[in-house]
Amino acid sequence: MKKYILLMGIIVIGLVSAGCNQANPTINQSNEGNETTGQPSTTIEEQSQQTDKNISGVGHEVVFNFDKQSVMLNSGYEMPIVGLGMYSQLDETAVNSVEYALRNGYRKIDTAKIYGNEAEVGEGIRQSGVPREEIFLASKLYMNQYSKAAEAIDEALAAFEVDYLDLLLLHHPGEHDVEAYQAMEQAVKDGKVRSIGLSNYYIEELTDFLPHVTIMPALIQNEVHPYYQEKEVLDFFTKKGIVMEGWYPLGGRGHTKELFEDPIIAKIADKHQRSSAQIILRWHLQNGVVAIPGSSNPAHISENLAIFDFELTKEEMAQIDALERAEKHDWY
Ligand SMILES: NC(=O)c1ccc[n+]([C@@H]2O[C@H](COP(=O)([O-])OP(=O)(O)OC[C@H]3O[C@@H](n4cnc5c(N)ncnc54)[C@H](OP(=O)(O)O)[C@@H]3O)[C@@H](O)[C@H]2O)c1
Repeated sequence: MKKYILLMGIIVIGLVSAGCNQANPTINQSNEGNETTGQPSTTIEEQSQQTDKNISGVGHEVVFNFDKQSVMLNSGYEMPIVGLGMYSQLDETAVNSVEYALRNGYRKIDTAKIYGNEAEVGEGIRQSGVPREEIFLASKLYMNQYSKAAEAIDEALAAFEVDYLDLLLLHHPGEHDVEAYQAMEQAVKDGKVRSIGLSNYYIEELTDFLPHVTIMPALIQNEVHPYYQEKEVLDFFTKKGIVMEGWYPLGGRGHTKELFEDPIIAKIADKHQRSSAQIILRWHLQNGVVAIPGSSNPAHISENLAIFDFELTKEEMAQIDALERAEKHDWY
């Protein structure tokens, strides 16, 4: 597994340092023809469509409903398009953030085994008083759990003290990921998990993965922000009926200041009398990307959900689109 991660790291570093957005190949990149036969070789999209035939959930249309602040997943479950990200929130902080968010209108929480706060998220849910069935709880299995994923799913349910998870993702590609996904498919049949998906899988990884599975991922969570936009990947996923969710939606810790102070974003924020964070989050949604901003600050948590009473114009969307730098803020 270490070798795999190292290889991924080297590829990403190599491509980023080459100064191009090729970490995720464009859809038709492989359509260069077969040198031996002279015949056009199949594109990655065509190859991928072949393998989709045996997968449930194919043909779903991804449509964000801004009135309901939700999207219908290919699994038939509705999911909020803004959620609270729980990375780097521990102990009382984690309990308080979840409780505050749920009491103030949030209905989606995104966490992961590796964040070390499943019990605290469960506690925050109970303390909020919001009924479990109104909440969309998402978590992720970490790579060291993949070879025993069925047990890991039961452990997660016990840690959160819930009967089911709304969404479970594989955190990264890695050894035994297909087996782990198959265990998640079984968990769907057993009613332990409602929707399943992936994180940090791009076009090639997904294309390699799909021939081994029977349920189309409902959602894939990858790094997305104005300096790393992943438009080709978004297009590829959307055509398959997979919802794209952006991690580091505000650029990630250590990078938010630069994004908030970006002159284009600051100018648009000024025009709408909104914060830069709100402008960026609204841009994600209008692009069809679900946002899960992380915060333990109540004012920020509230502000990040208050983005449904204004709209960015086409020109403003294009101005933020033009900020693309292919600048990844983490290596995976
Ligand atoms: N799948 C993966 O591999 C992966 C990787 C990374 C992250 N994630 C997920 O994505 C979520 C989001 O990522 P993230 O939390 O690391 O980064 P982020 O959401 O891009 O940024 C979080 C930072 O922004 C600040 N912030 C949030 N709202 C703000 C506002 N309205 N005004 C000013 N500052 C604001 C937060 O500080 P305050 O607390 O002070 O508000 C925090 O320092 C994570 O929590 C996690 O759930 C997944």
